Amino acid sequence: MIIVKAKDYEDMSRKAANLIAAQVIMKPDCVLGLATGSSPIGTYKRLIEGYENGDLDFSAVTSVNLDEYKGLSPENDQSYRYFMNHNLFNHINIDKTRTFVPDGLEPDSQKACDDYNAIIAASGGIDLQLLGLGHNGHIGFNEPDDCFAKETHCVDLTPRTIEANTRFFASETDVPRQAYTMGTKNIMQAKKIVVVVSGEDKAEILKEVISGPITPQVPASILQLHNDVTIVADEAALSKVEI
Ligand code: GLP
Repeated sequence: MIIVKAKDYEDMSRKAANLIAAQVIMKPDCVLGLATGSSPIGTYKRLIEGYENGDLDFSAVTSVNLDEYKGLSPENDQSYRYFMNHNLFNHINIDKTRTFVPDGLEPDSQKACDDYNAIIAASGGIDLQLLGLGHNGHIGFNEPDDCFAKETHCVDLTPRTIEANTRFFASETDVPRQAYTMGTKNIMQAKKIVVVVSGEDKAEILKEVISGPITPQVPASILQLHNDVTIVADEAALSKVEI
Protein backbone atom coordinates (compact mmCIF):
# COMPACT_ATOMS: atom_id res chain seq x y z
CA MET A 1 0.00 0.00 0.00
CA ILE A 2 1.21 3.47 -0.81
CA ILE A 3 0.04 6.03 1.72
CA VAL A 4 -0.03 9.62 0.54
CA LYS A 5 -0.39 12.11 3.37
CA ALA A 6 -2.35 15.22 2.47
CA LYS A 7 -2.66 18.38 4.53
CA ASP A 8 -6.42 18.67 4.38
CA TYR A 9 -9.46 17.80 2.26
CA GLU A 10 -8.46 20.15 -0.56
CA ASP A 11 -4.95 18.77 -0.72
CA MET A 12 -6.29 15.19 -0.63
CA SER A 13 -8.67 15.98 -3.48
CA ARG A 14 -5.92 17.50 -5.64
CA LYS A 15 -3.56 14.59 -5.05
CA ALA A 16 -6.24 11.96 -5.78
CA ALA A 17 -7.34 13.83 -8.91
CA ASN A 18 -3.74 13.85 -10.12
CA LEU A 19 -3.66 10.05 -9.94
CA ILE A 20 -6.92 9.73 -11.89
CA ALA A 21 -5.77 12.36 -14.39
CA ALA A 22 -2.59 10.38 -14.99
CA GLN A 23 -4.70 7.28 -15.68
CA VAL A 24 -6.88 9.12 -18.20
CA ILE A 25 -3.87 10.67 -19.93
CA MET A 26 -1.93 7.38 -20.13
CA LYS A 27 -4.97 5.37 -21.29
CA PRO A 28 -7.66 7.62 -22.79
CA ASP A 29 -10.09 4.68 -23.21
CA CYS A 30 -9.66 3.48 -19.63
CA VAL A 31 -12.40 2.14 -17.38
CA LEU A 32 -12.79 4.17 -14.20
CA GLY A 33 -14.54 2.69 -11.19
CA LEU A 34 -16.19 5.63 -9.43
CA ALA A 35 -17.55 6.28 -5.96
CA THR A 36 -20.05 8.55 -4.27
CA GLY A 37 -20.15 10.12 -0.80
CA SER A 38 -18.63 13.38 0.39
CA SER A 39 -15.02 12.14 0.17
CA PRO A 40 -14.67 12.13 -3.66
CA ILE A 41 -16.58 15.38 -4.38
CA GLY A 42 -13.43 17.52 -4.21
CA THR A 43 -11.59 15.03 -6.43
CA TYR A 44 -14.35 15.33 -9.03
CA LYS A 45 -14.13 19.14 -8.85
CA ARG A 46 -10.42 18.99 -9.69
CA LEU A 47 -11.11 16.58 -12.58
CA ILE A 48 -13.72 19.01 -13.95
CA GLU A 49 -11.09 21.77 -13.77
CA GLY A 50 -8.69 19.51 -15.65
CA TYR A 51 -11.30 19.09 -18.38
CA GLU A 52 -12.12 22.80 -18.48
CA ASN A 53 -8.50 23.87 -18.83
CA GLY A 54 -7.94 21.38 -21.64
CA ASP A 55 -5.68 18.91 -19.81
CA LEU A 56 -8.18 16.07 -19.65
CA ASP A 57 -10.30 14.41 -22.31
CA PHE A 58 -12.93 11.95 -21.06
CA SER A 59 -14.51 11.26 -24.47
CA ALA A 60 -13.24 7.67 -24.63
CA VAL A 61 -13.56 6.84 -20.91
CA THR A 62 -16.03 4.27 -19.58
CA SER A 63 -17.14 4.46 -15.95
CA VAL A 64 -18.73 1.94 -13.63
CA ASN A 65 -19.97 3.10 -10.26
CA LEU A 66 -19.75 1.06 -7.11
CA ASP A 67 -23.32 1.13 -5.93
CA GLU A 68 -26.86 2.47 -6.00
CA TYR A 69 -29.76 2.56 -3.58
CA LYS A 70 -32.44 0.01 -4.40
CA GLY A 71 -35.69 1.78 -5.20
CA LEU A 72 -34.35 5.22 -6.14
CA SER A 73 -34.80 6.55 -9.67
CA PRO A 74 -32.02 8.40 -11.53
CA GLU A 75 -34.06 11.60 -11.11
CA ASN A 76 -34.20 11.25 -7.32
CA ASP A 77 -31.67 13.75 -6.00
CA GLN A 78 -30.42 11.20 -3.46
CA SER A 79 -29.72 8.51 -6.03
CA TYR A 80 -26.10 7.87 -6.87
CA ARG A 81 -26.85 8.27 -10.60
CA TYR A 82 -28.08 11.79 -9.85
CA PHE A 83 -24.99 12.42 -7.68
CA MET A 84 -22.63 11.35 -10.46
CA ASN A 85 -24.42 13.39 -13.13
CA HIS A 86 -24.37 16.50 -10.99
CA ASN A 87 -20.93 16.19 -9.44
CA LEU A 88 -19.06 14.98 -12.51
CA PHE A 89 -20.67 13.69 -15.69
CA ASN A 90 -22.66 16.84 -16.58
CA HIS A 91 -19.46 18.91 -16.44
CA ILE A 92 -17.05 16.82 -18.54
CA ASN A 93 -17.11 15.36 -22.04
CA ILE A 94 -17.74 11.74 -21.00
CA ASP A 95 -20.23 9.85 -23.18
CA LYS A 96 -23.12 9.30 -20.74
CA THR A 97 -24.09 6.07 -22.50
CA ARG A 98 -20.81 4.65 -21.27
CA THR A 99 -21.35 5.66 -17.63
CA PHE A 100 -22.81 2.82 -15.61
CA VAL A 101 -24.50 2.74 -12.21
CA PRO A 102 -26.51 -0.25 -10.91
CA ASP A 103 -30.20 0.06 -11.85
CA GLY A 104 -31.90 1.13 -8.62
CA LEU A 105 -35.31 0.78 -10.22
CA GLU A 106 -34.88 -2.91 -11.08
CA PRO A 107 -36.99 -4.63 -8.39
CA ASP A 108 -35.55 -8.07 -9.13
CA SER A 109 -32.31 -8.01 -7.13
CA GLN A 110 -30.84 -11.03 -8.84
CA LYS A 111 -31.41 -9.52 -12.26
CA ALA A 112 -30.04 -6.11 -11.24
CA CYS A 113 -26.87 -7.72 -9.91
CA ASP A 114 -26.38 -10.18 -12.79
CA ASP A 115 -26.87 -7.35 -15.29
CA TYR A 116 -24.30 -5.21 -13.51
CA ASN A 117 -21.71 -7.99 -13.34
CA ALA A 118 -22.20 -8.45 -17.08
CA ILE A 119 -21.64 -4.71 -17.64
CA ILE A 120 -18.39 -4.79 -15.64
CA ALA A 121 -17.20 -7.86 -17.55
CA ALA A 122 -18.12 -6.32 -20.91
CA SER A 123 -16.18 -3.16 -20.04
CA GLY A 124 -13.03 -5.25 -20.10
CA GLY A 125 -12.20 -4.68 -16.43
CA ILE A 126 -11.62 -1.67 -14.23
CA ASP A 127 -8.31 0.13 -14.71
CA LEU A 128 -8.61 2.40 -11.70
CA GLN A 129 -11.14 2.14 -8.90
CA LEU A 130 -11.75 5.16 -6.68
CA LEU A 131 -13.05 4.36 -3.20
CA GLY A 132 -14.28 6.21 -0.14
CA LEU A 133 -14.32 4.56 3.26
CA GLY A 134 -17.37 4.07 5.48
CA HIS A 135 -17.06 4.57 9.24
CA ASN A 136 -17.39 0.85 9.80
CA GLY A 137 -14.83 0.04 7.10
CA HIS A 138 -17.32 -0.50 4.30
CA ILE A 139 -16.35 0.03 0.69
CA GLY A 140 -19.12 0.63 -1.82
CA PHE A 141 -21.89 -0.79 0.32
CA ASN A 142 -19.98 -3.91 1.36
CA GLU A 143 -20.92 -3.84 5.01
CA PRO A 144 -19.16 -5.78 7.80
CA ASP A 145 -20.17 -9.43 7.52
CA ASP A 146 -19.00 -12.97 8.22
CA CYS A 147 -17.58 -13.37 4.74
CA PHE A 148 -16.55 -11.22 1.78
CA ALA A 149 -19.34 -11.00 -0.79
CA LYS A 150 -17.77 -11.52 -4.17
CA GLU A 151 -19.74 -9.88 -6.93
CA THR A 152 -22.55 -7.37 -7.24
CA HIS A 153 -25.21 -8.15 -4.65
CA CYS A 154 -28.12 -6.61 -2.80
CA VAL A 155 -27.29 -5.54 0.76
CA ASP A 156 -29.29 -4.57 3.82
CA LEU A 157 -27.71 -1.36 5.05
CA THR A 158 -26.54 -1.33 8.66
CA PRO A 159 -28.11 1.08 11.18
CA ARG A 160 -24.78 3.00 11.28
CA THR A 161 -24.76 3.52 7.53
CA ILE A 162 -28.43 4.50 7.47
CA GLU A 163 -27.72 7.00 10.24
CA ALA A 164 -24.64 8.37 8.44
CA ASN A 165 -26.63 8.86 5.25
CA THR A 166 -29.68 10.42 6.94
CA ARG A 167 -28.06 13.85 6.62
CA PHE A 168 -28.75 13.72 2.88
CA PHE A 169 -32.44 12.83 3.22
CA ALA A 170 -35.43 14.69 4.66
CA SER A 171 -35.66 12.15 7.49
CA GLU A 172 -34.24 8.78 8.51
CA THR A 173 -37.37 6.99 7.30
CA ASP A 174 -36.62 8.26 3.77
CA VAL A 175 -33.23 6.51 3.66
CA PRO A 176 -33.48 3.34 1.56
CA ARG A 177 -32.81 0.16 3.54
CA GLN A 178 -31.18 -1.74 0.70
CA ALA A 179 -28.65 -1.09 -2.02
CA TYR A 180 -27.00 -2.84 -4.95
CA THR A 181 -23.24 -2.84 -4.66
CA MET A 182 -20.24 -4.25 -6.45
CA GLY A 183 -18.71 -7.02 -4.38
CA THR A 184 -15.22 -7.35 -2.98
CA LYS A 185 -14.08 -9.43 -5.93
CA ASN A 186 -15.23 -6.79 -8.44
CA ILE A 187 -13.27 -4.18 -6.49
CA MET A 188 -10.18 -6.32 -5.96
CA GLN A 189 -10.01 -7.11 -9.68
CA ALA A 190 -9.39 -3.44 -10.50
CA LYS A 191 -5.83 -2.95 -11.69
CA LYS A 192 -5.31 0.10 -9.48
CA ILE A 193 -7.21 1.31 -6.45
CA VAL A 194 -7.19 4.83 -5.03
CA VAL A 195 -8.86 5.42 -1.65
CA VAL A 196 -9.70 8.93 -0.44
CA VAL A 197 -10.13 9.38 3.31
CA SER A 198 -10.64 12.62 5.20
CA GLY A 199 -11.37 13.68 8.76
CA GLU A 200 -10.65 12.61 12.29
CA ASP A 201 -13.85 10.57 12.46
CA LYS A 202 -12.22 8.13 10.00
CA ALA A 203 -8.88 7.90 11.89
CA GLU A 204 -9.69 4.80 13.95
CA ILE A 205 -11.13 2.80 11.06
CA LEU A 206 -8.33 3.86 8.71
CA LYS A 207 -5.79 2.51 11.20
CA GLU A 208 -7.64 -0.82 11.23
CA VAL A 209 -7.83 -0.89 7.45
CA ILE A 210 -4.10 -0.28 7.04
CA SER A 211 -2.63 -2.31 9.87
CA GLY A 212 -5.38 -4.42 11.45
CA PRO A 213 -6.27 -8.02 10.64
CA ILE A 214 -7.79 -8.78 7.25
CA THR A 215 -11.37 -9.57 8.07
CA PRO A 216 -14.81 -9.23 6.47
CA GLN A 217 -15.79 -7.39 9.67
CA VAL A 218 -13.66 -4.54 8.27
CA PRO A 219 -14.36 -4.95 4.54
CA ALA A 220 -11.69 -2.46 3.39
CA SER A 221 -8.99 -4.46 5.23
CA ILE A 222 -8.88 -6.79 2.23
CA LEU A 223 -7.22 -3.98 0.30
CA GLN A 224 -4.01 -4.99 2.10
CA LEU A 225 -3.89 -7.93 -0.32
CA HIS A 226 -4.12 -5.82 -3.49
CA ASN A 227 -0.81 -4.99 -5.09
CA ASP A 228 -1.60 -1.47 -6.33
CA VAL A 229 -3.49 0.49 -3.70
CA THR A 230 -2.84 4.15 -2.96
CA ILE A 231 -4.52 5.64 0.07
CA VAL A 232 -4.71 9.42 -0.14
CA ALA A 233 -5.70 10.66 3.31
CA ASP A 234 -5.49 13.93 5.16
CA GLU A 235 -3.57 14.45 8.38
CA ALA A 236 -6.70 14.13 10.52
CA ALA A 237 -7.60 10.75 9.03
CA LEU A 238 -4.00 9.58 9.39
CA SER A 239 -3.65 10.82 12.96
CA LYS A 240 -3.72 7.29 14.39
CA VAL A 241 -1.46 5.72 11.77
CA GLU A 242 2.30 5.63 12.15
CA ILE A 243 4.02 6.35 8.84
C1 GLP B 1 -21.60 5.59 1.37
C2 GLP B 1 -21.12 5.04 0.02
C3 GLP B 1 -19.66 4.64 0.07
C4 GLP B 1 -18.86 5.77 0.68
C5 GLP B 1 -19.28 5.97 2.10
C6 GLP B 1 -18.50 7.04 2.83
O1 GLP B 1 -22.06 4.60 2.22
N1 GLP B 1 -21.89 3.91 -0.43
O2 GLP B 1 -19.22 4.32 -1.23
O3 GLP B 1 -17.49 5.51 0.61
O4 GLP B 1 -20.65 6.35 2.09
O5 GLP B 1 -19.06 8.28 2.56
P1 GLP B 1 -18.36 9.64 2.89
O6 GLP B 1 -17.28 9.82 1.89
O7 GLP B 1 -19.47 10.65 2.71
O8 GLP B 1 -17.86 9.57 4.28
